[in-house]
Amino acid sequence: MKISCSINNVETLIEAEAEERLLTTLRRLGYISVKNGCMQGKCGSCTILLDDLPVPSCLLYTGSIQNNAIVTLEYFAKTPDYEDISKAFTQTGIKLCGFCNAGKYFSAYDIIKKNDRPLKEEIEHRVSHLLCKCVDNESLVAAILLASKIRFKRLGGIAHGKR
Ligand code: FES
Repeated sequence: MKISCSINNVETLIEAEAEERLLTTLRRLGYISVKNGCMQGKCGSCTILLDDLPVPSCLLYTGSIQNNAIVTLEYFAKTPDYEDISKAFTQTGIKLCGFCNAGKYFSAYDIIKKNDRPLKEEIEHRVSHLLCKCVDNESLVAAILLASKIRFKRLGGIAHGKR
């Protein structure tokens, strides 16, 4: 079937079986930031933004994304939101293994986008599903807290989430 959607801000017509997993489709189309891990929605390595929300693409059927907007890490990596998180990761000494980047970046983005002053406990809870432990949880939480401050400053100290 043909599926009309936006991928990385470009209107696209995908040719795929309706029940093909979106992870498989995206990798076939060359979006290799989408990694194949557990295929059960548990590890986070296949995370994409679907209409600006992080979701595991291994759980979605490609036929179900008609008219949705998909963003992969390839595109997100060119945005100021990515820069904020990347700076925080660098400043806290975090080096990701390359397999879990999408899960960690998109989880961080969703946390700091919704709440510009997230609590440590909230972050701990929100990243607990990320199975890859190339970074210990304490460092990841510290980095996301720092990313929220960097983002807040970049936006001129304007609150965009709950306080
Ligand atoms: S491969 Fe999708 S969550 Fe693990």
